[in-house]
Amino acid sequence: MELLDALRQRRSVKAYDPEHRLSEDEIRHLMAHVALTPTSFNMQNWHFVVVTDQAVQDELCAAAWNQAQVKEASATIICAGNLDGHNNMERTLRKAPDAVKEMFGGMVPGFYSNDAIQRDEAVRTVGLAGMTMMLLAKDMGYDTCPMIGFDPTKVAEIVGLPDDHPPLLMITLGKALSPAHGRMGLLDFEEFVSMNRFGNHSLTGEVNDS
Ligand SMILES: Cc1cc2nc3c(=O)[nH]c(=O)nc-3n(C[C@H](O)[C@H](O)[C@H](O)COP(=O)(O)O)c2cc1C
Repeated sequence: MELLDALRQRRSVKAYDPEHRLSEDEIRHLMAHVALTPTSFNMQNWHFVVVTDQAVQDELCAAAWNQAQVKEASATIICAGNLDGHNNMERTLRKAPDAVKEMFGGMVPGFYSNDAIQRDEAVRTVGLAGMTMMLLAKDMGYDTCPMIGFDPTKVAEIVGLPDDHPPLLMITLGKALSPAHGRMGLLDFEEFVSMNRFGNHSLTGEVNDS
């Protein structure tokens, strides 16, 4: 599928064929390409729990305010951040030249020594990975819904996440039974883009009334 088509056609789908199952090959294909998502210092400070077990999906659904897509999707994917990623550099730089290992290894643990920065980085990482996953799912003939409407403590408990792996995003993935609702409205260009300086909406700085 062309990238522009995937971008335009990706919508948050809430109704899935509950009979459809995802194969392990498909999960491996999906995740092998999610792994290509960029991360700061190549930290790969993420962990994904791909849930296809119906009983576990039912539990997750209850922890997600009973949003039906969580139990009807072919897979419900818990996207967790790894808050300790900055202490795993030897694992993630395994193929890097020694000079890079030394430089990043010396710098990264200090840079991420503060809880807020670790959490911010994990949120960035999981957000980018989630978008890769949703576009790739379109390419594989599936639809998705990104979700934050869940109780993170319950979700972590259900899938056994350790304390330093908070669940930051849930993504349902499956065969759509019905399309997403119509778009609720997109901001106009001037409302969300500035050029060179906040509030400036053209490259010349002149007001564009067209
Ligand atoms: C971080 C995030 C959290 C969301 N949480 C939920 C959710 O809990 N339940 C839900 O039905 N949709 C959820 N959505 C879907 C949004 O409502 C949807 O992306 C938005 O309305 C735009 O529609 P579209 O994705 O179809 O383009 C979430 C989306 C994002 C990005």
